Amino acid sequence: MNVSTEPVILKLGGSVITDKAADQGVVREDSLRRIAKEVSEYRGKMIIVHGAGSFGHTYAKKYQLGKVFDPEGAIVTHESVKKLASRVVDTLNEYGVRAIAVHPMCCTICRNGRIESMYLDNIKLMLENGLVPVLHGDVVMDLELRACVLSGDQIVPYLAKELKITRLGLGSAEDGVLDNDGKTVPEITPKTFEDFKHYIRGSGSTDVTGGMLGKVQELLELSKTSCITSYIFNAGKDDNIYRFLNGEPMGTTISPDKRV
Ligand SMILES: Nc1ncnc2c1ncn2[C@@H]1O[C@H](COP(=O)(O)OP(=O)(O)OP(=O)(O)O)[C@@H](O)[C@H]1O
Ligand SMILES: [Mg+2]
Repeated sequence: MNVSTEPVILKLGGSVITDKAADQGVVREDSLRRIAKEVSEYRGKMIIVHGAGSFGHTYAKKYQLGKVFDPEGAIVTHESVKKLASRVVDTLNEYGVRAIAVHPMCCTICRNGRIESMYLDNIKLMLENGLVPVLHGDVVMDLELRACVLSGDQIVPYLAKELKITRLGLGSAEDGVLDNDGKTVPEITPKTFEDFKHYIRGSGSTDVTGGMLGKVQELLELSKTSCITSYIFNAGKDDNIYRFLNGEPMGTTISPDKRV
């Protein structure tokens, strides 16, 4: 087993831990338990970020969050994703993972939907003291829009950059970025993105933050401004999370351009 002393950032996609076809928050219990077990078998430090799935996107869409400021919509959506966070944290703790929720609404400010600042000292201390911070897609206050939807896909590369963490992966319900034949694209870099862009769309379900295209764009931004390689992989398949945490490359790799 390759246990790194550096933390790993893992995103649990809302499409894996919830039923995204539901019109209200529904947890996929079996999937969450299996994931909690795999996470518990990893001994290193980690940060978990989970998607909002049907606990967030449905309400964000209903109240048009990000387009119009709706205090009731912001509260309903935030309360709903907090419920999911509590289910995730409780299940992880049942399996012995010392998980603790960090709600982005309470520590983040955005500007036009992009993170302007996030309070990180608590997360650093949690990592130093053996706790596993669990963040999630949330509604957060925004300097221009008043409130916006902050995707877990944006939080992951932000944390990687700010905390200088180089191993990160977005686990979702597909094997990675798929081409038109359903085959996994092995690698995308900023230069090769144009070759693959036409395969990559939003989500098959309700998703206000860009589905697969949103993920690829967030990770490409990171690869343009750092030497970090990240992964989009299938967290819905047995053992993949365990293998990812232990250092196996998998799914689609999003990498910086090769030096010539
Ligand atoms: N080329 C592609 N390859 C793979 N998936 C794609 C592609 N184009 C679009 N998709 C869609 O993107 C979805 C994944 O994004 P989505 O945001 O729904 O998942 P998630 O991140 O697990 O959920 P959440 O945002 O709630 O965390 C896939 O389930 C699929 O419907
Ligand atoms: Mg999404």
